[in-house]
Amino acid sequence: MTNQKRGKGQTALVTGASMGIGVDLAECFARDGYDLILTARTEPALKAVADRLSKTYGVKAAIIPEDIGKPGGGAALAAKIKAKKLSVDVLVNNAGYGNAAPFHESQLETELGMVDLNDRVLVELTHIYWPAMLKAGRGGVLNVASTAAFQPGPFMAVYYASKAFVLSFSEALWEEANGTGVHVSCLCPGPTVSEFRARAGTGKMRLAKSAAAVPSMPVAQAGYDAFQANRRVLVTGARNAFQAGLVKFLPRPMLLKAVRGLQSPA
Ligand SMILES: NC(=O)c1ccc[n+]([C@@H]2O[C@H](COP(=O)([O-])OP(=O)(O)OC[C@H]3O[C@@H](n4cnc5c(N)ncnc54)[C@H](OP(=O)(O)O)[C@@H]3O)[C@@H](O)[C@H]2O)c1
Repeated sequence: MTNQKRGKGQTALVTGASMGIGVDLAECFARDGYDLILTARTEPALKAVADRLSKTYGVKAAIIPEDIGKPGGGAALAAKIKAKKLSVDVLVNNAGYGNAAPFHESQLETELGMVDLNDRVLVELTHIYWPAMLKAGRGGVLNVASTAAFQPGPFMAVYYASKAFVLSFSEALWEEANGTGVHVSCLCPGPTVSEFRARAGTGKMRLAKSAAAVPSMPVAQAGYDAFQANRRVLVTGARNAFQAGLVKFLPRPMLLKAVRGLQSPA
């Protein structure tokens, strides 16, 4: 009987793999035998992750530092991957950031940069690798959205909308891939320990005080398992899943007031 690992002979491209959830997602794929292509902007951090995972799991781990949030960032990354003669079987669109501020106080550059990273490049990379996945009838896309995807988010309006986009796009592709052997999953974490909150400035909000952040590895593992099971959407944590289900039934004005309260300073 062979004891071959599931990912043997396949490569997973993980965006945002220098820190946080992306590092743990990369580890889940490496543990199962996938070779890795890791990308983010911070080269030393990427190198440390690649060295650790390749040593621990005996997989190949290439790093490609790139600011994929820049226009054309996805194509630039794909060109570098091609130049290294690497292929992508699984695409993990994890890189993303948020910005906590009333919209009128936000910087346009920050808000548009969020759309570029959270949505535009996710579509760009998926568009680049999707046809080959369908042709091969294997692999797929694991997109990282958020529990923010399920309702509008006053005082973090663009972030919530950007994640609603990721959820909608992922579900549509899941249906398009139905029966092809290609998997599509949308991971929707709640508050998770990472650099996200400090970078987004959400620490002062009531939400940050009311919901403790959970460690990132169980979140990543749940997302990995969902991807392997071709589960369309996975909301991590029972309370998050309950809330994501509940919001469909709340009158919109009531929901907006509730989210406004959670997103306000404590
Ligand atoms: N943590 C949470 O509470 C939470 C909850 C729900 C959803 N999420 C989502 O989970 C995903 C991962 O976030 P995280 O919590 O792990 O946050 P994080 O610790 O801030 O990590 C974000 C990753 O994205 C990379 N990144 C940021 N801007 C980039 C750019 N322009 N080009 C390339 N890479 C870039 C960062 O690397 P560099 O800075 O080195 O480029 C880093 O590797 C995000 O999509 C986030 O929206 C997080």
